[in-house]
Amino acid sequence: MDYLKIEGGHKLSGSVKISGAKNAALPLIVSTLLSKREVELRNVPDVVDISTLLKLIEMLGGRYTREMSSSKVVIDTKEVNETKAIYDIVRKMRASVLTLGPLLSRFGRCEVSLPGGCAIGARPVDLHIKAMQTLGAEIEIKGGYIVANAKDGLKGGVVVFDKITVTGTENVIMAASLAKGTTKIVNAAKEPEVIQLCEVLQKGGLNIKGVGSDEIIIEGSGGELFDIDSIDIIPDRIEAGTYLCAGAITNSEIEIQDAEPNHLKSVLNKLEGMGFGITINGKNISISPAKIVKPVEIITAEYPGFPTDMQAQFMALATQADGSSIIEERLFENRFMHVSELHRLGASIHLRGNTATINGKTPLRNAELMATDLRASSALVLAALVAKGETSIHRIYHLDRGYENLEVKLGALGAKIERLKE
Ligand code: UD1
Repeated sequence: MDYLKIEGGHKLSGSVKISGAKNAALPLIVSTLLSKREVELRNVPDVVDISTLLKLIEMLGGRYTREMSSSKVVIDTKEVNETKAIYDIVRKMRASVLTLGPLLSRFGRCEVSLPGGCAIGARPVDLHIKAMQTLGAEIEIKGGYIVANAKDGLKGGVVVFDKITVTGTENVIMAASLAKGTTKIVNAAKEPEVIQLCEVLQKGGLNIKGVGSDEIIIEGSGGELFDIDSIDIIPDRIEAGTYLCAGAITNSEIEIQDAEPNHLKSVLNKLEGMGFGITINGKNISISPAKIVKPVEIITAEYPGFPTDMQAQFMALATQADGSSIIEERLFENRFMHVSELHRLGASIHLRGNTATINGKTPLRNAELMATDLRASSALVLAALVAKGETSIHRIYHLDRGYENLEVKLGALGAKIERLKE
């Protein structure tokens, strides 16, 4: 197993290129199940979650070629004949549940393993299941699998989400796209990744209204597959935010390139509020040092609110602010596992329910740390950049799920970071 060794206390400088968004690529990869011809995806990040999903597509009978040097993947799902997404893959990545909608709508049946417990809370898939039932699927849970059947195909319906769910919305969009009749999604997610999925299907011939709003209306094709064109995946707003936090925590001047500033408004707003300079130049964003790093108050929310996927990174940053910061996690019930690891570096953080109070500024010092989930791990990397001495971060397979070449990119910015074998 690999681990990272980071020597803290070095300023960063220079620029870093942002990769394509993992969370946009995942639904787009499964959306190729709805295409009558092969689809070329560009700007696909080289992260483990993507490889896992591609493997699943292959196990279903699809074919793909991947060109690492150009971040290009071409997928052909013509020959897909298997409709079972097995536990061995799904357990590695909860987003595999995204195959439920497209498989069910194309084949009228499928079996998708239940993702099981997840490190950041229960994360059930009840809303996905209920939505598929609304579209006419019969669903049974058997042997840890969601066994779904819609003998005569899915039928349009009104799906009302009690809670906003990103992958749930994406699943329904894909299920409804081949259904007979019209589907309305009420309380839909508005994340940029959902919007890109809608736009790609729209371009492929799907009649869909309300894209980017909380009410989406989809005119199903009645089973006719789409003509999905090549896709340029949007930039990863969470990777972009993480590198901006790397600049902020080391109080350095760095630039991130090929980002989408419009997707980062809430994150940029918080960084500016903390005293950092932010300059936007087209798709590039520069961050410059703060004279005094001010504390921050954050409440996580659905897009366009502050992303839960940036909460841990801002907590690391808040340890270096002058004063007390408050972070309230509203989306997931157990997304504070980075707190005990940050304590090991000397951070002063108090947890009460879903609210953390971070007392800064605290000098951090090296420790042996354990990564617990994807975004929590990046918070540990950020903290290690300013911790005195050498910090080791173990179990970084969590990081590899979602950050492309993290140590190479940070190293190029001047961080002293090394990937080593246990
Ligand atoms: C997606 C993102 C993830 C991000 C999250 C919230 C992908 C691949 N992942 O995850 O990085 O942290 O959005 O922005 O895009 N819920 C239920 N029942 C369900 C589904 C969800 O109760 O059937 C709850 C969840 O437990 C959570 C909330 O709804 O409390 C939001 O979760 P959701 O938006 O579904 O997260 P994901 O789509 O899994």
